Amino acid sequence: MTSRIHRSRRTVLAGVASLAATALLARTGHAAAPALAPTPRDAEGPFYPARLPAEADHDLARMQGRAQGAKGTLLYLEGRVLGTDGRPLAGTKLELWQCDATGHYHHVGVDAAALDAGFQGYGVAIADAQGRFAFRTIRPVRYGGRPPHLHFKLAHPDAAPLTTQLYPRGESAERGLGFGLSDRSTRERLEFVLAPAAGREPGALAASYDFVLRGRA
Ligand SMILES: [Fe+2]
Repeated sequence: MTSRIHRSRRTVLAGVASLAATALLARTGHAAAPALAPTPRDAEGPFYPARLPAEADHDLARMQGRAQGAKGTLLYLEGRVLGTDGRPLAGTKLELWQCDATGHYHHVGVDAAALDAGFQGYGVAIADAQGRFAFRTIRPVRYGGRPPHLHFKLAHPDAAPLTTQLYPRGESAERGLGFGLSDRSTRERLEFVLAPAAGREPGALAASYDFVLRGRA
């Protein structure tokens, strides 16, 4: 009896929701889609390249003409860039910069002898027609007083520009935050899950993260 009442209540509620959706569709010509929450902003920090390097492709772990790749653990990071309406933002330019496996940022005037010459330090990917992007880089490392992190800038003509940082899951609260977000629940929305990268180099990791950009004001 109870379950029949619940069932019939559910049926009525579903009917009301469906009527509301039909009314909206009739009024606007569009089905209602729940808005996605924009990706939180995070600090740019002091190490955006002082001068952009000549080599700036999406593979930060390999330098042209150099047989040896970057030091550190390889990371295949992919995902999508979407608007708050869920539509892919094709053509979004994603800039990624991070320190090398020994904790040095490139292209900021650091003594070249201290840098991992096999690591690019900065790279760019362009989102495809489905909003998809992919980077090949290294897992971010702990350095100084900061948790492991990746720096990003995203730009699309129809969206507000986004500067933020991503952190491996469970590591965003490690150490002092330095130039990171102080609000923990917001910061946790910038975490990505690491997993073994199937079919890639032994020990390589994979992660996925979808960015959501708000529209221009
Ligand atoms: Fe940093």
